[in-house]
Amino acid sequence: MTRVGAHDEPGPHRTRKGDAMTKPKSLGCTARSAKIQPFYVMELLEKAKSLEAHGENVVHMEIGEPDFTTPLAIREAGMRAMEEGHTFYTHSLGLPQLRERISAYYAESRNVSVPADRIIVTSGTSGAFFLLCAVLLDRGRNFLIADPGYPCYRNFGTLFDARVVPLPVAEASRFEITPGQVEGCGAVPHLLMLCSPANPTGAVYTGDSLARLFDAVSNAGGVMAVDEIYSGLTYDRKYLSALAISDEIVVIDGFSKTYAMTGWRLGWMVVPQSLVRPIQRVAQNVFISAPTVAQYASLAAFDVSTELEAMKETYRQRRAFLFPRLKQLGFDLPVWPEGAFYIYAGIERWRMDSMEFVERALVEAKVAITPGYDFGAYRAGSHVRFSFANNTENLKEGCERLEEWLGSL
Ligand SMILES: Cc1ncc(COP(=O)(O)O)c(C=O)c1O
Repeated sequence: MTRVGAHDEPGPHRTRKGDAMTKPKSLGCTARSAKIQPFYVMELLEKAKSLEAHGENVVHMEIGEPDFTTPLAIREAGMRAMEEGHTFYTHSLGLPQLRERISAYYAESRNVSVPADRIIVTSGTSGAFFLLCAVLLDRGRNFLIADPGYPCYRNFGTLFDARVVPLPVAEASRFEITPGQVEGCGAVPHLLMLCSPANPTGAVYTGDSLARLFDAVSNAGGVMAVDEIYSGLTYDRKYLSALAISDEIVVIDGFSKTYAMTGWRLGWMVVPQSLVRPIQRVAQNVFISAPTVAQYASLAAFDVSTELEAMKETYRQRRAFLFPRLKQLGFDLPVWPEGAFYIYAGIERWRMDSMEFVERALVEAKVAITPGYDFGAYRAGSHVRFSFANNTENLKEGCERLEEWLGSL
C-alpha cells in the first residue's frame, strides 16, 4: 500500500486536478465585508478553550451569555411543539398568538399599550437589528451609537454603508448618550441606537434622559431605537420601557438574556406603524420567518416568573459580590451597574493596554475577560469588561487569581 503523503492530500493549496497553487484564491469579498471587525471576545474565548484543551483551568468572566439552562417549562413547550408537528414556516411577522402575548406582556409588566400589529418577531434581536438597519440605513445616512457600546451595532452600520458616528460615553453622564451630543455631533441623526440596560456598562437610562434624547433625535428628523434586551435584568428600580415615551421609538427586545434562551434565536421589535410593511418585505426575503419551534416555546416564557426571579436574584447577588471585590483589587469603577450582567472597569493604574492586560490575565492568571476594544475606541485601551454570567464560586476564584497576578506585576 502506498503511503499517502501530505502533498497527495486534497487541501486548500491544491486544485482538484492536483495543480499546485501558490496562494489561496481570493474570492473577491466586498470592501464592506472586509471592514467588519472580529469579536475579540470570541477570539479570546477560543484561546481560553485551547488552554482548557491542554488541561488548564480557566475562569470565564468574558462571556455575555446566561450560564443558566432555559427554564424547564419553556423547553417542554418547545418539545410539545415538535411533537405536535409545528415544523413549518410561520407568518413573516411572527405567530399571531406570540405577538398578542408580547403585547399583553407590555401591558402587564411595562404598563404600556402596544398593539400586536406593531410587534415583529425576529431571529434574535440580531435579526431585528439587521431588519431595522436594512430599512433605515444607506450610504450618506448617519448611524449614531454609544462608544463604548455593543459591538455589532457599528458592524451593521458598516454592512449597510452608513456613516457610523460613535458618541463617547463616560462616567460624567453615567455612561448615557446626552441630547447635547446628538445635537452637537455635526451629523443628522438618521438613526440613533442606544442600549438600556447597556452592554458593556450596565447603565440604565432614566425616563427623563430617554425623553430628552427622543426630542433631540426626532426634532432633527431621525429615528431613535432602544435595545432593551437586558430590560428584564434591572436590579434597583422598575424598568421603564422607551415605549412609554413615544409610539415613534423603535424598541428591540428578545428572549436570549432574561429568559436564558440564547440558542433559540428569538427576539422581537416594536416599530412605528409606518415601518411595519417595509420591514416585513425585507423579513420575508431574508428570513421568511423566525424559528417556529422557538416561537411556540417562547409562548411559555411569560409564565415562568418564579424561575426568572430566581435567575435575576442570583445575578443581583453576584453583582453584590463582584463590584466591591473588583474595587478592592484596584479596578476603577465609577458607576454602579444597575442592569445587565457586566461591570466596565478602568485599568489605568496598571499602565497596560487592555489588549495586553486581557492576554496576560488569560495566560498568567487563567482568567478570561474582555478588552475595551470590543466596544469601540474611546478609552478602549484603559478598560475591560467583566461578566458575572458565571457562578459566585468561580467569580471568587477568578478574583483570587487576579489578586495574585496583579500583586506580582
Ligand atoms: C446589547 C445586546 N444586544 C443584542 C445582543 C444579541 O442578542 P440576540 O441573542 O437576541 O441576537 C446582545 C448579545 O450579547 C447584546 O449584548
